[in-house]
Amino acid sequence: MSSHPSTDLHTDPSLYADLDVYAVAGNPISHSKSPAIHQWFAEQSKQAMHYGLLQPEMDGFAKAAQAFFAAGGKGMNVTVPFKLDAQVFADKLTIRAHLAGAVNTLWIQDGKIYGDNTDGAGLVRDLLAQGIAIHESRILLIGAGGAARGVIGPLLEQSPKCLVIANRSSAKADGLVKLFANLAAVKETALESRTLTDLENSEKTPYPFDVVINATAAGLSDESPVSAAAVANIFTPSSFAYDMVYGKTTTFMQQALQRGTRISDGLGMLVEQAADAFLLWRGAELASQIDPRAVLAKLRS
Ligand code: ATR
Repeated sequence: MSSHPSTDLHTDPSLYADLDVYAVAGNPISHSKSPAIHQWFAEQSKQAMHYGLLQPEMDGFAKAAQAFFAAGGKGMNVTVPFKLDAQVFADKLTIRAHLAGAVNTLWIQDGKIYGDNTDGAGLVRDLLAQGIAIHESRILLIGAGGAARGVIGPLLEQSPKCLVIANRSSAKADGLVKLFANLAAVKETALESRTLTDLENSEKTPYPFDVVINATAAGLSDESPVSAAAVANIFTPSSFAYDMVYGKTTTFMQQALQRGTRISDGLGMLVEQAADAFLLWRGAELASQIDPRAVLAKLRS
């Protein structure tokens, strides 16, 4: 993976004296869609702001973020591989960021750095916008890494009937079930773990699922976490398959299509998490002035 020698891709806030400056930090970052998304939100709600790219060295997130905020930066989105660094960097965390174990949105207020995580809320809103019910539905979440953990809280908040977390290694899925057991109990959701191999066995996977979410990194290497033997247990023509990856039809999505299952990539989640970050920074009262679905349509066109 390339590590750009410069930590600053023209995002020095002191160069934009008249504008509030925001940035997305990641490595690599040059192909990020976040500047375009935030620019559209800014146009829709008539906000004067600049949103740029930051590419910290792989071990240099704190240094780059410190410099950005010291130079007057107002807020930052954080993506791979820095979401844990961002959580450590923040002085104060929202409850959902604490539960997610990761931060994707930072801002400065009264000299303190605040950290939140809008990924899970973004996923939930994208599902709802696509007409997918979460309340009282049966959800299979595949993966137990950072991406999966980030969405469990917001999914449970919708009180699904059950949430099954399936992962290649069982220990991580078991750990997440323990971590979210209290919230699941309050929401009256059956929260359970499975291994990927369990998904091949219809006795160990007794539900037809309404929603199947791929939160693993398998799609990046053109693999699917769902084996050929598990496909029939998981996907039905009335279920909905969601891959958090965007920009391609992954093997996971192809498996679902072959079973007649409706599919979605994660581009809507990207736009919706950005919308939440934008509103945290610029004010919740702008919610009626931004149109994330129109921004999503522009990105797809
Ligand atoms: P992220 O922040 O993207 O979630 P991560 O925390 O490294 O990244 O987690 C990666 C997830 O993808 C894990 O659930 C991992 O499974 P393991 O915990 O068993 O390692 C899963 N994963 C990655 N490649 C996979 C593959 N080829 N098949 C199945 N699961 C895979």
